[in-house]
Amino acid sequence: MQKHGLDGKVVLIGGGAKNLGGLLARDLTRHGAAAVAIHYNSDATREAAEQTLVEVKALGGEGAIFQADLTRAANVTQLFDDVVDRFGKLDIAINTTGMVLKKPMLEIGEDEYDAMFNINAKCAFFFLKEAGRVLEDHGKIVTLVTSLLGAYTPFYSTYAGAKAPVEHFTRAASKEFGERGISVTAVGPGPMDTPFFYGQEAEDAVAFHKSAAALSGFSKTGLTDIEDIVPLIRHLVTDGWWMTGQTLLSNGGYTTK
Ligand SMILES: NC(=O)c1ccc[n+]([C@@H]2O[C@H](COP(=O)([O-])OP(=O)(O)OC[C@H]3O[C@@H](n4cnc5c(N)ncnc54)[C@H](OP(=O)(O)O)[C@@H]3O)[C@@H](O)[C@H]2O)c1
Repeated sequence: MQKHGLDGKVVLIGGGAKNLGGLLARDLTRHGAAAVAIHYNSDATREAAEQTLVEVKALGGEGAIFQADLTRAANVTQLFDDVVDRFGKLDIAINTTGMVLKKPMLEIGEDEYDAMFNINAKCAFFFLKEAGRVLEDHGKIVTLVTSLLGAYTPFYSTYAGAKAPVEHFTRAASKEFGERGISVTAVGPGPMDTPFFYGQEAEDAVAFHKSAAALSGFSKTGLTDIEDIVPLIRHLVTDGWWMTGQTLLSNGGYTTK
């Protein structure tokens, strides 16, 4: 088995049923991953998880679906244990889970603050911790953050604010797990053409975002297309292993840092 190739590798995708995570599941299978563990959370997403599993199998891969609310540390531990029980090992762990809120600070309540930090920061921390516990040597970990980490903007205080700690979790994890050859990175896409984005944005804001990147005129939607993020993540979990401890913004020139 190649050290950095996908051949023979077992991949867990947190939020692997649909949108970016679903495309990653299919893409990594197409490029040779042996098995993909497809995680989902909501009942409403179960059908998408089942459909992604069908597609993974049609592409010749093995797969299984796992339900878990990852805002509880015990559930994250259970998920990683279940995946290793099912496939015998884990080589690559990608966390695409997240929740967005676009709202003025003066209107944000404690419950919203807690929900945002539980999924975007706490879940990411324990996902990294459990990956560090169970991943094979030379494993790879990627967490999804946001290009808003490079922006100076109102209304995304809890979203960008709760993704920001992941940059430091990534640095620490890459140092701590590096002695086993494990690479750890964070990827921050620009606004992506998925329901996740449209759910929080008014029409004028969508129009702004569609023209805000240097390369907007050349993408399919004007936004960041998930098809343009997947190859970067595929690279990071294979031949791009030398890139570790970094947060990479991939957004067609929307924000920089
Ligand atoms: N779309 C954008 O504009 C954009 C831009 C930059 C970065 N991102 C980031 O990219 C990632 C993927 O986004 P996407 O556009 O592909 O949207 P998405 O499919 O809606 O991804 C969000 C995922 O988070 C999962 N999730 C939510 N609450 C959870 C919980 N309590 N426990 C476990 N999982 C939970 C959702 O699962 P269920 O649906 O099953 O609950 C879903 O799979 C996210 O981390 C997001 O922050 C998105």
